[in-house]
Amino acid sequence: MTPKHFLNTQDWSRADLDALLAQAAAFKRSKFGDQLKGRSIALVFFNPSMRTRTSFELGAFQLGGHAIVLQPGKDAWPIEFDLGTVMDGDAEEHIKEVAQVLGRYVDLIGVRAFPKFVDWAYDRQDVVLNSFARYSPVPVINMETITHPCQELAHILALQEHFGTTDLRGRKYVLTWTYHPKPLNTAVANSALTIATRMGMDVTLLCPTPEYVLDERYIGWAQQNVAKNGGSFAISHDIESAYRGADVVYAKSWGALPYFGNWAPEKPIRDRFKHFIVDEAKMALTNNGVFSHCLPLRRNVKATDAVMDSPRCIAIAEAGNRLHVQKAIMAALAKP
Ligand code: CP
Repeated sequence: MTPKHFLNTQDWSRADLDALLAQAAAFKRSKFGDQLKGRSIALVFFNPSMRTRTSFELGAFQLGGHAIVLQPGKDAWPIEFDLGTVMDGDAEEHIKEVAQVLGRYVDLIGVRAFPKFVDWAYDRQDVVLNSFARYSPVPVINMETITHPCQELAHILALQEHFGTTDLRGRKYVLTWTYHPKPLNTAVANSALTIATRMGMDVTLLCPTPEYVLDERYIGWAQQNVAKNGGSFAISHDIESAYRGADVVYAKSWGALPYFGNWAPEKPIRDRFKHFIVDEAKMALTNNGVFSHCLPLRRNVKATDAVMDSPRCIAIAEAGNRLHVQKAIMAALAKP
C-alpha cells in the first residue's frame, strides 16, 4: 500500500517510486492536468528556497490546485514542537494545533525544516517533519529536512533521461564531498546515497576523512539496499580511484557530524580539503561521466566554471525535473 506521507523514499516501494518517476516523465511531456482540481497545499518553509518553492507553487497551479506559502516566525506564528512544555518562549502555538488546523483547510502539507546545527542526536530525529506527519490529518511531503526525497527523484529522472533507460544498474556512481566555507546540511548527501543504492548502482561515498562519513542510518540504508537490489557500496577517501571510470559524479558539501554544534574545530579540517572541488582534471578520470549537484552551488568553490558549463553537467536538467516529480508526488498523495 502507498504510504500516506512522502517523508523518505526508503518508506516507499520500488514499484511506487517507479510509478512516480513514470508519472513525472508523463507530466514533462504534457504539463497541465486536473489531478489537483479544487485541491490545495500548504507549503511550510522554516528555511529559504528558490527551486522548491517555485516548483511546488507552479506544479500545484499546473494541476489545477492552489498553493499557500507559510513561513513560521515570519508571516505565520512561530511553532512549538516539544511536548508538555511551558510555552513561555517565542512560540505562539503548538504543532498539535497547527497541523490539525491546516488539515481542515488544505489537502496536502509540504514542510522544509533544516537541522538547527546544534545537536545531531536531536536533529536526526527530524522532529519538525515527523510532528507534522503525526498530527496532520492530510498527507505531508518532505521539502528537505535531514533528507531531500524530492531532489532524489529529480536526480534519478535526470539520470534516466541522460542514459536513455530507466535501468541504472551497473552504473558507477560517485557521491563526492566538496568544499564549502560553511558546514552544510547532510540531507542531499543522505538522499543521494539512499536513492543511488536503491537503483542498484555501484556507489562510492568519497569524503575527506572518516569524520565526514554520513550518519549510520543512511549508511545502513545503503547497505540494506545493496543487499536487496544488487550493486555495491563503498566508502573512499582517495579522489583518484573514486573518480576513475565513474559514470556519474554527484557533489555535495556537508559538515562533519562529530563536530555538530561545535563547528570551530571542524573549520580548519574542512579548509584542508578545498582540493575536493570538482574540476576538469577529476572529471577526465571518469568514463565520460556526467556531473550533477542539487543547487544552489558556489561556482569555483564546489565545482569549477568548466565543469558547470560543460555539456556533461545535468544540474539544470535535474533542477527542472523538480517540477515534474513533485507534481507526480502531489497527484499520488491527493488521490481521494
Ligand atoms: N535544491 C533545492 O532544494 O533548492 P532550493 O533550496 O532553492 O529549494
